[in-house]
Amino acid sequence: MCGIIGYVGKSEATPILMDGLKRLEYRGYDSAGIAVAGPEGVTIERVEGKLAGLERLLAEKPVHGTTGIGHTRWATHGRPTETNAHPHRSGDIIIVHNGIIENYIELKKFLVGEGFEFTSETDTEVICHLIAYHCRKGDTTFRALARVREELHGSYALVVMNAREQGVLYFAKRGSPLVAGGGEKENLVASDIPALLPYTRDMIFLEDGDYGLIRENGIELYGADGKRIERKPQRIPWNALMAERGGYKHFMQKEIFEQPTVMLDVLAGRIQKDRGAITLEELDFLFDGSKLVFDRVSIIACGTSYHAGLVGKYLIESLARVPASVDLASEFRYREPLIDDRTLIIPISQSGETADTLAAQVMAREHGAKVVAICNVVGSSISRAANASIYTHAGPEIGVASTKAFTAQLAALYLLALYLAEKKGMADRKTMAARIDELLTLPRLMKNVLNCADHIREIAEEISDATHVLFIGRGANYPVALEGALKLKEISYMHAEGFAAGELKHGPIALIDHGVPVVAVAPRDAMRQKVLSNIEEVRARGAAVISVMTEGDAELAERSKYTIEIPEASWCITPILTALPMQLLAYYVADHKGTDVDQPRNLAKSVTVE
Ligand code: G6P
Repeated sequence: MCGIIGYVGKSEATPILMDGLKRLEYRGYDSAGIAVAGPEGVTIERVEGKLAGLERLLAEKPVHGTTGIGHTRWATHGRPTETNAHPHRSGDIIIVHNGIIENYIELKKFLVGEGFEFTSETDTEVICHLIAYHCRKGDTTFRALARVREELHGSYALVVMNAREQGVLYFAKRGSPLVAGGGEKENLVASDIPALLPYTRDMIFLEDGDYGLIRENGIELYGADGKRIERKPQRIPWNALMAERGGYKHFMQKEIFEQPTVMLDVLAGRIQKDRGAITLEELDFLFDGSKLVFDRVSIIACGTSYHAGLVGKYLIESLARVPASVDLASEFRYREPLIDDRTLIIPISQSGETADTLAAQVMAREHGAKVVAICNVVGSSISRAANASIYTHAGPEIGVASTKAFTAQLAALYLLALYLAEKKGMADRKTMAARIDELLTLPRLMKNVLNCADHIREIAEEISDATHVLFIGRGANYPVALEGALKLKEISYMHAEGFAAGELKHGPIALIDHGVPVVAVAPRDAMRQKVLSNIEEVRARGAAVISVMTEGDAELAERSKYTIEIPEASWCITPILTALPMQLLAYYVADHKGTDVDQPRNLAKSVTVE
């Protein structure tokens, strides 16, 4: 939530800050601002609303200078107004902040007593006044920041500018992400990798407690204990082009259609076809010979990643015969879960920065659990806090509604389940070989489904006026129904709910009325016949059934108003195929309605606050 950036170099800062903010806009977009230090001092420009408004303002009133900071906001404390937008200023101190200051009321009281005037409703404003307070007492900006780090409770990534100091920016991090890197005679800090990609692929990931400064010719980093540290940059396997829209109308659309290629990347290097085996060397520490060093798996995640986790439970329990539970990270961390050194925790996260997932994982490690993260962002907090990570290699995902990261997570979970099964001796070579052969066909099968996009668009346009849409599924496709409903809600603002089809009779069936669209995820598997009965029940009450089914299923087609076909596949991979029509349906409904597909209202892609 919230994107921040700081730049020091030889070039004009404004276009660099604006480009960086555009690449971070997925993190929040209800107001934006920049502060640039030029020959005539520091200019701050802020607007309510999206970055486009700030861009227009800057076109009319250009701001020049080669040092600057910028912010794109997702409001926590204080409405999304211009006064609450960052940067905030106290005398010479100007800051941008991502995070939440929990003790801001107490600090505010103190600062008001010291004569500081507050102009916004934000928690952030206490930070700049507090730094200014220490500077007033004789501290340097650097020293003041070091002190303030100790005085703030909560989470923060901060970039600080002193109007009296040329060519230097200060930064500090605890709880919210921050990366640093540089090009030729220029250095930057930002909330996330895409903002820095045009300048470098070698980035330093800051740890909690880190602080320091950037100048044109270097980055100085200090650890929580105040000692200077040298940290090796990490090479990022992405390039700047990957974080661009590349001719598509929306990032979400691009990311949906990229999925067959992403699948190739997920599988690359992890399959030994000749041996009928899965390679996940990073997980060797989970075995003592052929014995597992854990007794059960506990998956924790939020949002779409949680839905992937639910599918993971089916895969891990069925294939590897290891008990698995799935929790929403925000619930897990507060419910005193039973965790010990025989528990394997699997946090799943696209961004690797979701605050609840990270906190739940840290708590689990404190109880002795082993942690294997399934994560898309190399170097992210969640992957750093894990014993090992299975990276999903989906490339940067910019659309707020997760798509390619979801199917990549499903594939990673399947690989994990197969790997455990094989190592435990639960799958013979023939079975493994058959599963691997099928996995290798996935990119092609996914392409086949995506080729039906126009047909799905027609269905989407037909249902776009519905008041609500229900999604049903069973087994490993029950979580896909949940995901289908989430996608539709997120970007089209239509009311949608997903249900386990067998639960309909216990309440949700009361929602069925004449013409209510019901999307039934019913590929040909062991559960299909059961879903078919549930389809009959909703049809009998007037529902308009849209079946996502295996091609050629005439029996199901007869009972459906619309059908969307997926190729024949085993139950283990059908969720990866049935997820695609869910994404396309939501995308085309939203596009038809004209909502802001990539930046839906009230949402942010990376939720770095509880
Ligand atoms: C936000 C995003 C969702 C995402 C969820 C979890 O709510 O809008 O798309 O699924 O966070 O994010 P993560 O990065 O941990 O997968």
